[in-house]
Amino acid sequence: MTEKPKPAKPLPDHLHLDTLAVRAAVDKSQYGENSEALYLTSSFVQPDAETAARRFAGEEEGYIYSRFTNPTVTSMEQRLAQLEGTEACMGTSSGMSAILLLCMGLLKAGDHVICSQSVFGSTIRLIAGEFGKFGVQSTFVSQTDVAHWRAAVQPNTRLLFAETPTNPLTDVCDIEALSKVAHAAGALLAVDNCFCTPALQQPAKLGADLIIHSGTKYLDGQGRVIAGALCTTQKMIDEKFMPVMRSAGMTLSAFNAWVVLKGMETLSIRMKAQSESALALATWLQAQPQVARVYYPGLESHPQHALAMRQQSGLGGAVVSFDVKAADPVQAHKNAFHVIDCTQVCSITANLGDTKTTITHPASTSHGRISEAQRQAAGIGQGLVRVAVGLENIEDLKADLDRGLCGLDT
Ligand SMILES: Cc1ncc(COP(=O)(O)O)c(C=O)c1O
Repeated sequence: MTEKPKPAKPLPDHLHLDTLAVRAAVDKSQYGENSEALYLTSSFVQPDAETAARRFAGEEEGYIYSRFTNPTVTSMEQRLAQLEGTEACMGTSSGMSAILLLCMGLLKAGDHVICSQSVFGSTIRLIAGEFGKFGVQSTFVSQTDVAHWRAAVQPNTRLLFAETPTNPLTDVCDIEALSKVAHAAGALLAVDNCFCTPALQQPAKLGADLIIHSGTKYLDGQGRVIAGALCTTQKMIDEKFMPVMRSAGMTLSAFNAWVVLKGMETLSIRMKAQSESALALATWLQAQPQVARVYYPGLESHPQHALAMRQQSGLGGAVVSFDVKAADPVQAHKNAFHVIDCTQVCSITANLGDTKTTITHPASTSHGRISEAQRQAAGIGQGLVRVAVGLENIEDLKADLDRGLCGLDT
């Protein structure tokens, strides 16, 4: 018989983010395992009927059913909350289901949402299309102009939704300024922090009330699972989001939570390395004669460079987009496809946040199902190519893009 281990040592206060990413939320050990346990179970056995009744009534803490809570998911939630600097977090089955949970928990018919017109395509469709069907009004505004957000405020505005930097054009918004607009209007600010992650940017410290994550991206970091999360106060989770989760069930699976939990351990180091490579690639792209424009917050030529450096710990993130030169939209589409199809290292896939560099044509993939007018408003042209830089050697990545660029008919 092995000796039963002593409870895990409590962590000291005021640890750095890199330490928390590895160490936070591992105090549930039963057998002294050093890696976090994975609890693959749909339900939890109750000691007796009385306890089961108290737990179902919410009068006593305890796991009941994995649609509501699960210890592996709790570990992932606590670790992410500590990294984001929020009281609490709720894991969800995907990034989109985190936004669905957000909207279901906060909005009702007649409420109004102000959203950046440059956010992820599915976010636009969810807010304008799906929630529009249920009577939620929405206004889409310029990502970067705070005056547009302020001018869009109505008496029934409940939520401001921003994503910074945006996908794919890397527009950066001023989180602190937007939080002031939201709070002056009696509304809440939600920020999709998928591109920066808390390793670079902690929106709660700048006044955001709710932080959205696609765990599918950098939190996992190796393109293995679909996952999401919503970080906010414990009160909001208890009162607004847990009731929706219990009845609607956009639950994060324990296995996916475990993958994300382990992925977060290398988050800081990956974000720094991938951001450095992205800056080198963006700088190189800017010097290529076949490239009309490069979108990357780490470049001095980026319109919000100073704000991005202030808000994102001095790093631009790992996503670089660029427009290939072309005489017209038809040629632009052809040239963008040529550059993508000539790559041999980059993966042609719409995902991002992977250690493997990915390349995509936003106008026909991630933003292919919004209207042409919405695409134009978001500035996504046919010649746009998005590269989410991974951990390969930067010289191999430059050579991979050069294969298509060097033969382009501009
Ligand atoms: C910025 C952003 N938010 C949310 C999502 C949705 O995440 P998921 O695919 O995990 O639902 C994505 C997906 O690409 C994204 O890029």
